[in-house]
Formats: sequence, structure tokens, C-alpha cells
Amino acid sequence: MTSPLIAPSVLAADFANLQRDVEMLNASEADWIHVDIMDGVFVPNISFGLPVTAAINKHAQKPLDVHLMIVQPERYLAAFRDAGAEVLTVHYEACPHLHRTIQQIKDLGAKAGVALNPHTPVSVLEDIIADLDLVLIMSVNPGFGGQKFIERTYERVRQAAALIEKQGSQAVIEIDGGVNQVNAPLLYHAGARALVAGSFVFNAQDPVETIAQLKKVW
Ligand code: DX5
Ligand code: ZN
Repeated sequence: MTSPLIAPSVLAADFANLQRDVEMLNASEADWIHVDIMDGVFVPNISFGLPVTAAINKHAQKPLDVHLMIVQPERYLAAFRDAGAEVLTVHYEACPHLHRTIQQIKDLGAKAGVALNPHTPVSVLEDIIADLDLVLIMSVNPGFGGQKFIERTYERVRQAAALIEKQGSQAVIEIDGGVNQVNAPLLYHAGARALVAGSFVFNAQDPVETIAQLKKVW
């Protein structure tokens, strides 16, 4: 079996010591660095934006997995690509012209992802999933770190895996929110192949060891 990709979220890092925390991730088995962009409109919280993303990228030795929790994300795709994004994920709920937005991400040379809020049926991706590199299934309502994992996520992962198979898509299923050592193996067995973890990694006594444990899901 292949290990899942682990994408620690710097939302849970110490913002006054970002370089130190990014260097910790460089030295760990983390595969991607998850960067949560919140605009205070699409979600009820503001995180950080372009200059901080560029500052993270300056020290990061791993690809930046940028999760845009913002309205009209198409306005900022090129800027986040310039700031270092390798994966650009937009929310289904924020994109009335999702097909065009996905093409814009691909034209920028980034991997294209779509995120679904917990209430959005997986089936809405039927006609776009073949074009996606990533499907991000939110396992909490977006906006804050440290929330409780929603148990229905397992069923949604199975639905996404079935849709990917049916449509011949190469998309990777990523899970974001409340991921820990208990649900990680269950998510993997349901079909998830990328796991975001914020508070579980950064609040741990030994974040490097915690990342290593998350990769060993069986
Ligand atoms: C939530 C963010 C998540 C968050 C995860 O809106 O998209 O990436 O950082 O944090 P934890 O792992 O603490 O739930
Ligand atoms: Zn996220």
C-alpha cells in the first residue's frame, strides 16, 4: 500500500515563528504544506493572504497546497501561483463558472482541486471530476482549526472514490478538518489519499513524530 500524502496546515503554526515551523515541516515526512486562505466573507474568519504565503514559500522545501476559502477565487489564482502554490483548491460553493476556473488553474501550471463543504453532495462533481487533480472533502465546516471531525465524511469519501472510478478520473481525495490518528486509517481505507492536519500536528509534543505516525495508517 502507498502511504497517504500528509499536508500539515500552517493555520495551526505559531505565526510569530513561521520560519521555524516551516523548517520543522521541511525536516519531517510531510508531503505538502497546507495553506488556508480565509477572507472573512466566504468563511467567518480571516487568516492571512499573499505576502504570508510568499514568505512561507521562501522557506518551504515542500509543495504548497493552497486552500482558497474566498469568494471569487478566480481573481487571485495567478497571484497565489506566483506566491508559490503548486496545488490550488477552490470551493465548489464559491464558483458559478467552475469549469472555467479549473481551466485557469491548469493554464497556470498548477494542480487543480475543488473543495466541498460538508452539506454539498459529492454528486455535484460528476461533470468536472475527470478534469480535477484533487477533490477536497471538508470534514468540518470551513473557517477554523481545531473543530470536531464530522463522522459522515467516511461515506462521502466512498461516494467520491466511486465517482472517480466511474468517470475515469485521476483525482486524489484529500480530507481537511479534525484529522487525527484515530480517523486517519479509516479515511485511508475509505479511499482518501491526502490528509490535512492542523491542530493534531502543531499541538503535539513531537510534531515530526506525529506526522510520521499519520503516514503509517495501517
Ligand atoms: C479549516 C481549514 C483546515 C484547518 C484544519 O477551515 O481548512 O485546513 O486548518 O485544522 P484542524 O486539523 O485543526 O481541524
Ligand atoms: Zn484547509
